[in-house]
Amino acid sequence: MRTHTCGELGTQHIGQTVTLCGWVDSYRDHGGGIFIDLRDRYGVTQIVFGPECGEDTQKLARSLRSEFVISVTGEVADRPEGMVNPKLATGAIEVRPTKLQLLNKSVTPPFQPGSKEVPTEDLRLKYRYLDLRRGEMQNAMELRHRITLGMRKYCDEHGFLDIETPMLGRSTPEGARDYLVPSRIHHGSFYALPQSPQLYKQILMIAGYDRYVQVARCFRDEDLRADRQPEFTQLDLEMSFVDDDDVMGLIDGLAARLAKELLGLELTLPLPRMTYDEAMERFGHDAPDLRFGMEIVDLTDLAREAEFRVFRATADGGGRVRGLNAKGAASKYSRKGIDELTNFVVQDFGAKGLAWFKVEEGGKLASPIAKNFEEALLARIAERMEAEPGDLLLFVADEYEVTCKALYGLRRRFGHELKLYDPQAKHFSWVVEFPMFARDEETGGWAAMHHPFTAPRPQDIELLTTDPGACRAQAYDLVINGLEAGGGTIRIHDPGVQQQVFNLLGITAEQARERFGFLLDALAFGAPPHGGIALGLDRWVMLFGNLDNIRDCIAFPKTQRATDLMTEAPGRVDLKQLRELGIEIRGERPR
Ligand code: AMO
Ligand code: AMP
Repeated sequence: MRTHTCGELGTQHIGQTVTLCGWVDSYRDHGGGIFIDLRDRYGVTQIVFGPECGEDTQKLARSLRSEFVISVTGEVADRPEGMVNPKLATGAIEVRPTKLQLLNKSVTPPFQPGSKEVPTEDLRLKYRYLDLRRGEMQNAMELRHRITLGMRKYCDEHGFLDIETPMLGRSTPEGARDYLVPSRIHHGSFYALPQSPQLYKQILMIAGYDRYVQVARCFRDEDLRADRQPEFTQLDLEMSFVDDDDVMGLIDGLAARLAKELLGLELTLPLPRMTYDEAMERFGHDAPDLRFGMEIVDLTDLAREAEFRVFRATADGGGRVRGLNAKGAASKYSRKGIDELTNFVVQDFGAKGLAWFKVEEGGKLASPIAKNFEEALLARIAERMEAEPGDLLLFVADEYEVTCKALYGLRRRFGHELKLYDPQAKHFSWVVEFPMFARDEETGGWAAMHHPFTAPRPQDIELLTTDPGACRAQAYDLVINGLEAGGGTIRIHDPGVQQQVFNLLGITAEQARERFGFLLDALAFGAPPHGGIALGLDRWVMLFGNLDNIRDCIAFPKTQRATDLMTEAPGRVDLKQLRELGIEIRGERPR
């Protein structure tokens, strides 16, 4: 139906007769001529219906409205002097039509897809088809395609086979709540939608498919955030006869390739690695944003000498006193501003307070609490913090975990508020040597830090019996700009070690059999050493596209409350359907 797209024509086409199809982006009637901006996903072309196109065509052109779909045939012409728009790819030309065909009308749209104004998110999600016509969404969808294609090509070049795994399966423990699907044939039994293809990909290794990849949809019923969706996509990989260096090396190559092709960035390989312990010490988090410095500084030893009760008591009681130097920020935060920072660390991160000093000209530390410190000690604190006039020093005294959380939050906030990084910058790194286990806050028992199939470091196997808390895993997370962009581990391939880990996690032999019996059975049939990783594809698109929200890189995302505003899912179902499934809803009667 068309000879060209709306983003294609330039001065090289002048004089040619072309046919374009698209949506009416805007229309202006200047009496003598009607100007239409015709839009498709490739761009916008100006169409000018002058007197020469005839009265009937002009009349039809006058009836066009936003989002009408038309086909236009005409000649490509130079724009008159002064009408050239250098910002538009097609800005040097216009089309003077001889023929106009109305392909379809549109009701008045609730927002203009071509407008610079961004509609409210509720409107965007309800009328997603109009939202997806917006340039920003089209760019995001194209970027998503490029990233997915790049990942698939890279994996193909490296010998990976793309193998699909079931959506209807058993629960896989990634630590979130499952989405369940009731069985019609077996009343009272449920499939679980996969939280990841974890167990299937391990089974594929046992089956001899030594390099597996899948662009896999995962489902997790958890609290949603700007970087989390209930269904999301992973580039899921698994490899046999590898160690952690092999997996990280492979992903290094992928990251470098995509950064170069899509962002024009040269990454230096290998990507930097940091242990979990170091990340927590220096940045308070296992996915540190390394686009800027402002590292956490420990002051616990000096705090022991302080008269200031909060510091000394915390240090003496086995806690930690740690702080940040917000360089040059003293003048940017008034007393009220600091009160606000204090509320932030207290309310959001459970800190008990925030101690602070402003560094004056001459280097003196000023604060309402300064009188509680000897001059000499203040000087040593200033030295430790590498304080210079104009700096703002902030400290949290608490249990180690609380200082981590609060200072991580504070550092993140400063990074943003004080614009400590180039918003276009991309920083890739690995965090490695995660603990095998973390304390489950509810039960007080051990919980798997990654998942229960993660192998301990060979040198730490003994710690499984003597000191599980100290046991480190062969685990690695990929971090981009402070966001966990991927995570994986080397797996346990020894049924005995697997059982030992289940024991530590409080999973009885009986429960293990019931839930993962098939994996335990398979492990007994010659399981090769294996490991893998999953990259959060949506997050990659978000990061590569400099998007603030994961919903902006997913064609049909869910709201923060896990609903789809366009289809209105989740929805009620017929009583008949429920009966077939053997399900009865308590309380409200279904339709
Ligand atoms: P993990 O649970 O770390 O590992 O998930 C891998 C990556 O997926 C992304 N991700 C998410 N993205 C959007 N919304 C979510 N709700 C969400 N949850 C996770 C993150 C994360 O790094 N089976 C293991 C991988 C393995 O061991 O090979 C797994 O799923 O970017
Ligand atoms: P207080 O002794 O409670 O009056 O606190 C004096 C100052 O120390 C206030 O600015 C508090 O915010 C701060 N502060 C109190 N507890 C802590 C803590 N655990 N860590 C850091 N600062 C604290």
